[in-house]
Amino acid sequence: MQMRTLSGHTGVEVTGLDLREPPTQETVAALNTAFSDHSVLVIRDQHLSPPQVLAAVELFGAVFHQHNTKFALPECPQIHYISNQDFFPDGRRYIPGEGWHTDHSNDTRPPKATVLHAVQLPDRGGDTQFANMQAAYDALPERIRERIAPLIAIHVYQSTHSARKLMGLSEANKERVPNAVLHPITRTHPETGRKAIYINPIRIEGILGMDHKEALPLLDDLLEHATQPRFQYRHQWKPGDLTLWDNRCLLHKANGDYDHAQTRYLYRVMLQGSVPN
Ligand code: SIN
Repeated sequence: MQMRTLSGHTGVEVTGLDLREPPTQETVAALNTAFSDHSVLVIRDQHLSPPQVLAAVELFGAVFHQHNTKFALPECPQIHYISNQDFFPDGRRYIPGEGWHTDHSNDTRPPKATVLHAVQLPDRGGDTQFANMQAAYDALPERIRERIAPLIAIHVYQSTHSARKLMGLSEANKERVPNAVLHPITRTHPETGRKAIYINPIRIEGILGMDHKEALPLLDDLLEHATQPRFQYRHQWKPGDLTLWDNRCLLHKANGDYDHAQTRYLYRVMLQGSVPN
């Protein structure tokens, strides 16, 4: 197995590994360390069936059950799919994951990681962008770090302030999803101890005890700061990539910038996380 970093702050590529075979304990430990250290792990050249995807992702933790079960694979419901071939009820094409976000932050214990396995890709485009919220936190002026240190954000399934609309939840799914949860705007990574900005434009409804007139510009400023190109790693997918990212210290977004006559289809699994603090 070989590893190569993909940028100065985010991402490591793994080659020479075939996850159809169970890896040794040493390999699993090295993969988990690389994941904590680099936040995005790209394991190249995997061609895995849904049960093999599950076995591979369980090397990193236990599966988190998605709030919206609409995209579950019938034959393996712990795995969901990402596809550009679904439509909103009004007929508009649905591109999952467009717009900066971190996954399921409206859960009391948001997933620590998300895994995508590329099954079918367009000839070009459809990259996933990642913004490193630890590097962005480190670059904040001290006065801003002090200002955001005590702040608590209110996360909901769909923020009324978000331009990006999610697919609606079924009645059964609504019952499982919390109305609102509270998370700090600065969180500490449980494995590395590094601090990160923890915001989510599609889920944050407001800041506890702060007027929207003050809260929304502050959130916009933090987003603008954190998503500067210098904090980004942009992943250009290759067939067979199994890519795992750390939701505790990254924002990510999909790009719908390709020919939609071509299918983009990936398997998707999330892994259980802890209470952000
Ligand atoms: C997601 O936000 O989970 C999907 C990202 C992508 O399709 O690139």
